[in-house]
Amino acid sequence: MLLCTMVIFSMAPRMSTSFWSAKETNILWRRRETEHLDCGRILRNDKEYINNFIGDKRISIVRNIDYMDMSCSSIQNRIIPFNYHLRPLKVGVVFARVVYKDYEFLEKQVQVSYHPQNNFCFFVDSKSDADFKWRIRRLARCLPNVHVLDEELPIDSAGHNMNLAHYKCMERMVKYPNWGYFILMQNHDVIGKTVYEISRIFELLDGANDIDIDKEFGRIEERFDWDLKTLRLFRDESLYTPEFLNKTLRISKGSVQGSLSREAVEWMVKTVNPRVYLDQWNEGVYGVDEQWISTFQANDFLGMPGHFTDKCLNETGNKTDFISRWSKWSWADEIGEKCGSKFVRHGVCIMGIEELPVIAQMPNIMFNKMMPSFDYAIVDCTAELIFNRTFLGQDDHPLEEDYYLNMVNVIYHKHHMESDYELNCTPGYEIWRNRKYPL
Ligand SMILES: *[C@@H]1O[C@H](CO)[C@@H](O)[C@H](O)[C@H]1NC(C)=O
Ligand SMILES: *[C@@H]1O[C@H](CO)[C@@H](O)[C@H](O)[C@H]1NC(C)=O
Ligand SMILES: *[C@@H]1O[C@H](CO)[C@@H](O)[C@H](O)[C@H]1NC(C)=O
Ligand SMILES: *[C@@H]1O[C@H](CO)[C@@H](O)[C@H](O)[C@H]1NC(C)=O
Repeated sequence: MLLCTMVIFSMAPRMSTSFWSAKETNILWRRRETEHLDCGRILRNDKEYINNFIGDKRISIVRNIDYMDMSCSSIQNRIIPFNYHLRPLKVGVVFARVVYKDYEFLEKQVQVSYHPQNNFCFFVDSKSDADFKWRIRRLARCLPNVHVLDEELPIDSAGHNMNLAHYKCMERMVKYPNWGYFILMQNHDVIGKTVYEISRIFELLDGANDIDIDKEFGRIEERFDWDLKTLRLFRDESLYTPEFLNKTLRISKGSVQGSLSREAVEWMVKTVNPRVYLDQWNEGVYGVDEQWISTFQANDFLGMPGHFTDKCLNETGNKTDFISRWSKWSWADEIGEKCGSKFVRHGVCIMGIEELPVIAQMPNIMFNKMMPSFDYAIVDCTAELIFNRTFLGQDDHPLEEDYYLNMVNVIYHKHHMESDYELNCTPGYEIWRNRKYPL
């Protein structure tokens, strides 16, 4: 790649061990293992070419980072695009991620979304290994907009402490100005849009939250009460009538990942206190982290800024479109037949290199999930795609602005206060879930 070579030359890189390719010192650096990949051919869905990197020929990375130079200057060289100009964003964002492994992958994620107006908040699972903790904490020492909270908590696959971790990031981040949306993420989510695209999406959402709302699964613990009074939800109860505080939350379930407006996050931290609610869920058994933002988003009477309602779920029995996260479930499908990569883990498709065209054309902000130990090529090619769009003006799939503008939650947010407003739960476009997959 000619352009790349030029950039490296002008960066006057300090070479590190031979383990890394020379591109290390450029933000487009690739691992040795993926250096030879032509991501452009993969983006064009050249099946013959893609066949060289799937099945037993997948490029995976198991143990890797021993040689990664963790001095601040090296970290900054890998992340900050010194040689490129970044335009200001209309909407800066917080990427709030609960993490436990794969430092290199996470550093790459910071790199692709790096912008002086964006912030990264990491909450570390206390069970993570010491080397991982050391690296992620170093990252925060070298970049002012990366925050790693001092506190750690044990977080498990049942979701215990997950919500609390995200809440602590909210508490931290409301102290910082200049961001407009807050994205809740988990370790292996991959951002699939540029900083400009994300900013534009949130500009179009214009204050509406983008949260998954689905039926509660019968996980609710009946031994607890879920009324606002018991939950001590509102910080200043004198502002509300006893009848209001006597209302019970209608619990719904949804993905942990989602996007909240800044106003919603400020409200979550300053107007309410969800701690009792979260503590009660933390006593549960499974999927205990999937009822927080979903329930708050659906219970419109709470008045969380940017909220939606559970009327559509009630009326149609279906969830409403949600774009923050792309994922495919493949239950009872041991061989992953429904997954592009033909690989499924705990019911979720793990993405492989053949899915770059999917990532390029879906309207979603993040993709769940990629795992370096399964396929690292997709991680590097996604980063190259975003680099090209950010810095080379590549226009392979212009943002579908009408998609975001016409989302049911966005229209609701814009108009629900108008007297003649009528909720229409049927989107006027084809939702991404119904698009062809795998390609
Ligand atoms: C990125 O841009 C370079 C230079 O134009 C091109 O060779 C490469 O195929 C592009 N990659 C992707 C994933 O679009
Ligand atoms: C609260 O609701 C319960 C039933 O849900 C009712 O029995 C009780 O009278 C209500 N209390 C107030 C103060 O409204
Ligand atoms: C949804 O259905 C539940 C149970 O039938 C009901 O209690 C609730 O009020 C309904 N919500 C809306 C917004 O209509
Ligand atoms: C609910 O979703 C199913 C499956 O996508 C669809 O067939 C059905 O028409 C939807 N129902 C309504 C009322 O939108």
